[in-house]
Amino acid sequence: TTRRLAAPDIMKRKGGEPIVCLTAYDAPTAALLDDHCDLLLVGDSVGMVVHGMPNTVGVTLDMMILHGQAVMRGSKRAMVVVDMPFGSYEGGKEIAYENCARVMKETGAQAIKLESGPTVPETIAYLVQRGIPVMGHVGLRPQAVLTEGAFKAKGRTDDERLRVIAEAEATADAGAFAVVIEGTAEGVAREITEVIDKPTIGIGASAACDGQILVTPDMLGLFDWTPKFVRRYADLRGEIDRAVASYAEDVRARRFPAEVETYFSKKHVTP
Ligand code: KIV
Ligand code: NA
Repeated sequence: TTRRLAAPDIMKRKGGEPIVCLTAYDAPTAALLDDHCDLLLVGDSVGMVVHGMPNTVGVTLDMMILHGQAVMRGSKRAMVVVDMPFGSYEGGKEIAYENCARVMKETGAQAIKLESGPTVPETIAYLVQRGIPVMGHVGLRPQAVLTEGAFKAKGRTDDERLRVIAEAEATADAGAFAVVIEGTAEGVAREITEVIDKPTIGIGASAACDGQILVTPDMLGLFDWTPKFVRRYADLRGEIDRAVASYAEDVRARRFPAEVETYFSKKHVTP
């Protein structure tokens, strides 16, 4: 039997073989990704890529739990990390603990992730000391989009460079087992990866990181627009469009369903 990877396994990979991560939101996709990935993130990006929300601010704890349960059912080997949504951990460490514990209990996931802005490291320490493995997330923090005004790459000025590095160090020092670096200049991601003793997982943060993650529907080509840092490994959008167009044509021409796709009464004799 294969054992699921967990936080200590990922932590040990610092500076070693690159850690392969993707996002997952449902059981069948999780089952496919499980054969190839070390870590599956149930990202709050689910709000945008599955539920059509304009950003991740509207994602609820109940949504994260429902998708977390599906991904756990679909996968066997990869470590599963569930994102804590906006509003579920920033209000205080006790509230954060309650919500994180609920996610851990109801999904069975191996860890949670939270966006580690300036006030969050204290909460991370509180959670880790109480048995909750935490993954941090620095650089571009999508949950801060409404105070920032837009999704913008980070660490391109000296000021920002120092701020992102400080946040990453505080996150690692607080006990996070790994840190996601999103939308951040190469030099900054490299420096963070050199100075912290935990693996860094990059998304739009260069090849300098200890691992990489992408939003799965983005890399599968489900959308007509993707950010600069996404490489499209498939054209699901084109595939689905072609499939649905053929189905529509077949239904309209009465070519679907055919006899082989039809149930008949037991007495029926095929002509
Ligand atoms: O929500 C998400 O998908 C994420 C990844 C992009 C790291 O946080
Ligand atoms: Na996220």
